[in-house]
Amino acid sequence: MSGPDFAALKRAAAARALEFVHDGMTLGLGTGSTAEVFLELLAARVRGGLKVIGAATSECTAARARSLGIPTASIEELAPLDITVDGADEADRELNLIKGGGGALLREKIVASNSRRMVVIADRSKLVDRLGRFALPIEVTSFGHTVTAARIQQMAQDLGYLGLLPALRISEGASFLTDGGNVIYDCSFGTITDARALGRALKAITGVVEHGLFIGLANTLLIAQSSTEVEVLKPVAIRDA
Ligand code: 5RP
Repeated sequence: MSGPDFAALKRAAAARALEFVHDGMTLGLGTGSTAEVFLELLAARVRGGLKVIGAATSECTAARARSLGIPTASIEELAPLDITVDGADEADRELNLIKGGGGALLREKIVASNSRRMVVIADRSKLVDRLGRFALPIEVTSFGHTVTAARIQQMAQDLGYLGLLPALRISEGASFLTDGGNVIYDCSFGTITDARALGRALKAITGVVEHGLFIGLANTLLIAQSSTEVEVLKPVAIRDA
């Protein structure tokens, strides 16, 4: 028996996100394989006459958008953006996310924070009851990064996340460097009991630039359950409005 066709699921979620895009909008363009499918579908609409302009969340996305013919400008020129469409490594039903698997978490958070709306696209494997199955990416300045990692480890222990060993992300035999020239530690906290508290504690450590917890940023989560069914989730406040 063959497994799920994740390419088809990503395409379904990306296609659904296009319904949120209208002529004249400014867009935050996400990073990762799901966001890239969105770019490809968006490019087809641009070729058909749709007028949009995007701010990319990574150098990789900026290059891909340009090669596809999607007009781009900087976040400084475009903010506040109408809508950001981005993927996620994990999402819960309250629309809390873990992001940064592709290493773009800092720019992704800046762009999402400067958008009126964030639409997250993902296949069903990303939906979890509680965040923490995916190791949390934490972006740290290169200077002194090992001592910063030791402080992250100590903080985790103080909060009751026992046994955490921050893992320096390696790419092609060297430290992975973000677009901002920082390194990333992937941190397996296990089930995250209080994401806001953990996010605050991480930001309080000097040397931590950003973490991949996106709390209260997403407005809409599009989860492809199959190639033809996309579940639309909204945060409680919006659901009740
Ligand atoms: C990049 C990200 C991506 O959105 C996340 O890693 C999901 O990627 P993919 O769609 O390839 O699974 O946060 O920093």
